[in-house]
Amino acid sequence: MPEPRGRRVLLGVTGGVAAYKSALLARLLSEAGMDVTAVLTDSATRFVGPETFSALTGHSAYVSLWDRPGEILHVRLAHETDVAVVAPCTANTIAKLAQGLADDLLASTLLEYDGPLVLAPAMHPGMWGAVATQTNVATLSSRGVRFVGPVDGPLAHGDIGPGRMSEPAEIADAVFAAVRPRDLDGTRVLVTAGPTHEPIDPVRYIGNRSSGKMGVAIAREAAARGAEVTLVLGPATIAPPPAVEVIRVQTADEMRSAVIDRFTAADAVVMAAAVADFRPKAPNDRKMKKDAGVPDLMLEPTPDILGELGERRRSGQVLVGFAAETDDVEEAGRAKLRSKHLDALVANRVGREGTGFGSERNDATILVAGGRDVPMRIWSKAELASAVCDLIVRFLTGPGVAGRLGRS
Ligand code: PMT
Repeated sequence: MPEPRGRRVLLGVTGGVAAYKSALLARLLSEAGMDVTAVLTDSATRFVGPETFSALTGHSAYVSLWDRPGEILHVRLAHETDVAVVAPCTANTIAKLAQGLADDLLASTLLEYDGPLVLAPAMHPGMWGAVATQTNVATLSSRGVRFVGPVDGPLAHGDIGPGRMSEPAEIADAVFAAVRPRDLDGTRVLVTAGPTHEPIDPVRYIGNRSSGKMGVAIAREAAARGAEVTLVLGPATIAPPPAVEVIRVQTADEMRSAVIDRFTAADAVVMAAAVADFRPKAPNDRKMKKDAGVPDLMLEPTPDILGELGERRRSGQVLVGFAAETDDVEEAGRAKLRSKHLDALVANRVGREGTGFGSERNDATILVAGGRDVPMRIWSKAELASAVCDLIVRFLTGPGVAGRLGRS
């Protein structure tokens, strides 16, 4: 866990019954040695007062843009923050952050702020499940915002369901994790993401459901930790993170060329892309007519990019693969780890609602060559990206690759 001591936290508190628990969060963060400044919305002050936070943190707590005449408060606060957390975070604040509204001190500060952001939503289950809220959550997640909760439990008015704020200790852990070390400074990391499309004719293709979210999360995390990142991105609509080199490709062949070109210079390669395994042997260069009947598609295998990297790797290079399996996840993953000469492989269980392709979460285990595996569990893609980067750091600074793979 990165060292939180001395880091400056902006603690946003918005209007919800759980606001009283934020006082405990302020105390936990302060006890960890963090420098906490609270910003409350007007609605939050209906539940808890700024004086509580001033007393717990030793710093003034703010509510209004005009609390410090003569000073541009939201700009100063934004620039003096290493990590921001909003707990509880209402549906209204989530919507404002997704849209970039700046109509109060908290929203203005967070719009100006450009660092790690943790949100701990709290609201009624209907509001949390609303399409509008989930769309906003997806937008913010794709920008790297970390969500903690909400969890199931009793809510105001006797309701029960998903919408309860996570416990302060869990939120504090997410804040500590968000203060990442720059432990990939000076390294080059090559990441692949998204599907490939293998043309049948100029309008049709063979593809898969990968959205690119997993690979993009890894690229974002590695860049945030100081790596020079190249992202080879298949045909996905996801926005790539800023500050990474992006190479757009369509087919497995194009992905292979882009990866092979940059492989020698890379210290670590993470193949999160879902490369199509087969492609039409002879794609038509004109649109196939429906009237000509159902075509007989002859398929051939695409190049196994990761397999080739495993053969070509030089000593000291780190190679991480992914696998998506519906059955025998660990066994199949272990076989790929060995046959492709990888340092680690993230084996995903796919085919279930809510995880894997296109979702915000992966149900995965991390298999480590010559090391201790990380057991199967459900991860947010940001968390999994962080765990993969932790492993890369360990590999780059630990014993030689050949030793780990049991080769001399
Ligand atoms: O993109 P998302 O919507 O976020 O979804 C993420 C994901 C589920 C796609 C991702 O987490 C994942 O599991 N990616 C790998 C999927 C896959 O292609 O698995 P595989 O078992 O077919 O391939 C194993 C490994 O070999 C992968 O690292 C793959 O990139 C690589 N491969 C596969 C085929 C091929 N021709 N060349 C390759 O290099």
